[in-house]
Amino acid sequence: MIPQETVDQIMNAAVIEEVIGDYVELKKSGSSLRGLSPFTNEKTPSFYVLPAKGIFKCFSSGKGGNVVTFLMETEKASYPEALRLLARRYNIEVQEKERTPEEIAAASAKEGLANLVGWAAKWFVDQMRDTEAGQAIGRSYFAERGFRDDILERFLIGYSPDSWDALATAAQEAGYTADKLVESGLCKQREDGSIWDFFKGRVLFPIRDVTGRVIGFGGRTLQTDKKVAKYFNSPESALYNKSRVLYGLHLAKPEIVKEERCFLVEGYTDVMAMHQAGVTNVVSSSGTALTTGQISLVRRYTKNVTVIFDGDAAGIRASLRGIDMLLAEGMAVKVVLLPDGDDPDTYAKKVGSDAFQRAIHGDAQDFLQFKIKLLSQEAGADPMKRAEMIRSVVTSIAAIPDSIQRSVYLQSSASQLKMDEKVLGTEVAKVLHEQSKAEAKRAAQSSRNSLLRGNITPPPKASIPPSTLQGLPDVEGLSSKASEREIIENDLIRALLEYATELVVVAVEGEEGEEPATMEVPFAELVIHRLEREGIDIEEPTNQAVVKRFSSELDHERILTADQLAQDQDTRVQQKVAGALVQQHVLSPNWSQRHKIYPVVERDQLMSLLEDSLRRLHLMDLRKLASDVAAKLETADLSVDEERDLLSQKVKITREIQATLQHFGTVILP
Ligand code: CTP
Ligand code: MN
Repeated sequence: MIPQETVDQIMNAAVIEEVIGDYVELKKSGSSLRGLSPFTNEKTPSFYVLPAKGIFKCFSSGKGGNVVTFLMETEKASYPEALRLLARRYNIEVQEKERTPEEIAAASAKEGLANLVGWAAKWFVDQMRDTEAGQAIGRSYFAERGFRDDILERFLIGYSPDSWDALATAAQEAGYTADKLVESGLCKQREDGSIWDFFKGRVLFPIRDVTGRVIGFGGRTLQTDKKVAKYFNSPESALYNKSRVLYGLHLAKPEIVKEERCFLVEGYTDVMAMHQAGVTNVVSSSGTALTTGQISLVRRYTKNVTVIFDGDAAGIRASLRGIDMLLAEGMAVKVVLLPDGDDPDTYAKKVGSDAFQRAIHGDAQDFLQFKIKLLSQEAGADPMKRAEMIRSVVTSIAAIPDSIQRSVYLQSSASQLKMDEKVLGTEVAKVLHEQSKAEAKRAAQSSRNSLLRGNITPPPKASIPPSTLQGLPDVEGLSSKASEREIIENDLIRALLEYATELVVVAVEGEEGEEPATMEVPFAELVIHRLEREGIDIEEPTNQAVVKRFSSELDHERILTADQLAQDQDTRVQQKVAGALVQQHVLSPNWSQRHKIYPVVERDQLMSLLEDSLRRLHLMDLRKLASDVAAKLETADLSVDEERDLLSQKVKITREIQATLQHFGTVILP
């Protein structure tokens, strides 16, 4: 049994395109990568990798899933074996052990926390949107700062009423315990054991993991009193590990991959303001120094980082070390310096989106050059300070892992410092020598450890497609074996996956005599609700599994996203989701037009797709019923009562079939 923390660590470190790149030559194609399937002998590439989603999809074999599934397929490995292969590739130590009852309890405690925190995020949003105080205080605060509603919605911004126990009461009514509330940091406990709302009177910025799940909060005060801490943040918990989270990452992923760059800013509001200015490949370390964990999160998507600095010198100096860490992790770092007193939020609003975008792209300078310029200015002609500065530059250069890149920087830095390149090079070499001595010592120790644990064969560089798979195309949705029902189900499930969180307007019945009202619900909620209400069963096992996932998350008032499902434990589900996501990304409208296989669903067609699918499924159920009744009527020994009963059933079913058909007009014939 591999401990969950290690599994998380492995999954965080693993870069899907790197791993698959060992087997398949991948070329960029839009926001995805494409290559020849390792599973078949195809001549035209139909194998796709979506780095931002962490999935692959092979159209010639129908296989798809995440990086672990890929290794399970290519290496014929079990799930834990595949994880070990990854651990080895990314130098992660795996200590196998049985799960103790305590660990099992801890895992379910974490799940409980996640439920509570997700529920609270929704509650805070509701408070801001639906209560008078929420609108007058929370929402108007953001409105005054010029934030648009769609941005507030995108970031699930909420408001906690200025009451000692509004949240505590509501949460307990919803079935969460006081203990959990305290454990999550949402409430604090008094001496007498009673609890109070920690974030009372603040606006809330939910902090989310890469999959979009809420794991904690930053709460900003609306008071201007300098004695009140501007932000309260959730304490670390089983769920929330500050050093492994970047604010905004789950929203930034696709654009980071597309733009091949990630912007790094300081605060929550900076991330939001950049989104509003049309720049979505941006994350924030939430005011703390960068950690290696955070850097490896970004590295999964790009090696290019642009750090945006507020124009305040003390702040910049404090950040230099964090940037050395970026270099050490092999990132290529650029820097943008905003005018003194401005952060991205104020600056974007001052100059407008276009000028802001030009500034952050055009005015970016190489980090080392920037650092040298900054430190030179500070050192002036003072020889001691100059020596210190050179040492600091040497440390930065030595941190760069790639030797070619290092020598390029050495050259340019020497010329910028007006120093002999050889002298600077000798200093860098000294630092590297010290480092490699320390490294060797550590390696000797760890190789002794790994001998004790026993070795696992590393994956071979190239792999031969397993011959058993050749010539057996079974593309999901394309397969001729798929029944009519399955095709309808597939379309509906694909729409569900693609538009799960999309808000759709539905009519709700008012009280007696009242006007019917409308409300917005996420598409997934509507789909699940309608399937349940109309008693329609999704039959194909994988489709059924997907529906089950959505419905059990809905029981906790959470909407799953396809990104979350793409990493599901069930490989069939993974495969399904990978298929849907990749199609959405890589298939050109032309392709789908020509083949008329994948409906191109537009947002405003969602409702008609849903109605259409439900009617068709309902129709199939009715026809099945009709033929059952007809078969029964054929049987010889029916009593008069039985026959009358069956006949009246037949009439009812026929009527309903006709009523259902009318909705289709002439589209399909009875
Ligand atoms: N921060 C924090 N605790 C504080 C102050 C700051 O955790 N007491 C973190 C927050 O993540 C914040 C970031 O540091 O977003 C940057 O701080 P600051 O620039 O002061 O806040 P802004 O996000 O710019 O907030 P605002 O624009 O609303 O003043
Ligand atoms: Mn700010």
